[in-house]
Amino acid sequence: MKRLTALAFGAVLSLVTGNCLLAQEAAPAPQQPIAFSHKVHTGTLKVACKGCHANPDPGETMTIADAASCMKCHSAIKTDSPEIQKLAGYAKSGTAIPWVRVYELPSFVKFSHKTHIDKGSTCGECHGQVQTRDQLFREINLSMSGCVDCHNAKKASVDCTLCHELQN
Ligand code: HEC
Ligand code: HEC
Ligand code: HEC
Ligand code: HEC
Ligand code: HEC
Repeated sequence: MKRLTALAFGAVLSLVTGNCLLAQEAAPAPQQPIAFSHKVHTGTLKVACKGCHANPDPGETMTIADAASCMKCHSAIKTDSPEIQKLAGYAKSGTAIPWVRVYELPSFVKFSHKTHIDKGSTCGECHGQVQTRDQLFREINLSMSGCVDCHNAKKASVDCTLCHELQN
């Protein structure tokens, strides 16, 4: 993890300029390499989140199922669709699908999915109405103000060193 050398200075600067500490607007959905729909797979078909997001130990990241696991269904389902043919191509060559990230933190922020899920936070609190979306977009504010608002609401620590490593 990168350390924040000028952490305190940066924070003062942000307070003055008012950038980053303000809530950010919901960003538009990025163009994805395959037209995958959460609404179809989780809303209609009711595949569980963990079916594609396994959260392997130590649990920091959720991970996204690879093309080969999609093909457990799609070797038989919709094989004539151009989108599924793209998917089959990735599976055949063993290439990772270049999904465009929707929520992504800078490397100087500490975050673990496992600790949040263990303490009772739900996917929806941080990612919104995934089951109703054809395309995901950043609909929940997970910039610093979004993290801190929930920590305050749930009486969790807002100490700088909880989320950042300080260095003098
Ligand atoms: C407390 C807030 C929070 C909760 C609860 C949460 N997420 Fe996340 N999620 C995040 C943040 C923040 C990121 C970006 C993390 C990063 O870039 O390091 C993220 C990233 C992801 C990613 C992509 C990166 C990765 O970790 O592989 C997936 C997939 C994901 N979340 C799915 C889920 C699912 C499914 C659930 C429920 C089981 C869930 N999340 C619960 C905040 C949360
Ligand atoms: C449990 C089985 C199952 C799994 C696993 C699965 N899908 Fe699907 N997928 C379906 C079904 C069923 C449909 C809807 C077919 C229809 O419209 O009749 C579908 C539809 C699609 C479509 C739309 C195709 C079109 O042209 O209409 C895409 C794209 C797709 N899936 C991608 C994926 C990807 C990527 C993964 C892996 C991350 C995946 N699927 C995993 C069952 C599955
Ligand atoms: C059939 C497989 C599948 C299931 C089931 C599934 N997802 Fe996903 N998920 C994906 C794929 C593929 C992507 C990458 C494309 C995208 O962002 O839409 C993704 C991306 C995400 C992301 C964006 C992560 C980032 O930062 O880029 C979040 C958040 C997420 N899923 C949450 C969920 C939640 C919550 C559920 C359960 C309600 C769920 N997913 C169920 C396949 C799945
Ligand atoms: C939905 C509410 C919620 C959101 C949003 C949230 N958190 Fe948390 N977070 C919690 C709770 C609850 C705890 C546990 C407090 C305790 O120990 O009981 C926690 C604990 C933590 C911890 C300490 C445990 C560990 O994993 O080391 C860190 C670090 C953390 N959160 C970082 C973040 C960051 C970074 C974000 C924003 C990207 C964020 N949190 C967003 C609710 C939230
Ligand atoms: C609950 C987690 C959390 C806590 C507590 C927290 N931060 Fe952050 N901080 C973040 C996240 C997440 C970002 C990244 C925001 C982004 O770029 O989306 C961030 C970004 C920053 C940045 C980068 C500059 C910027 O403007 O984006 C600075 C500086 C910073 N934090 C300082 C602090 C200081 C000082 C404290 C203590 C008063 C603190 N943070 C407490 C989560 C946290």
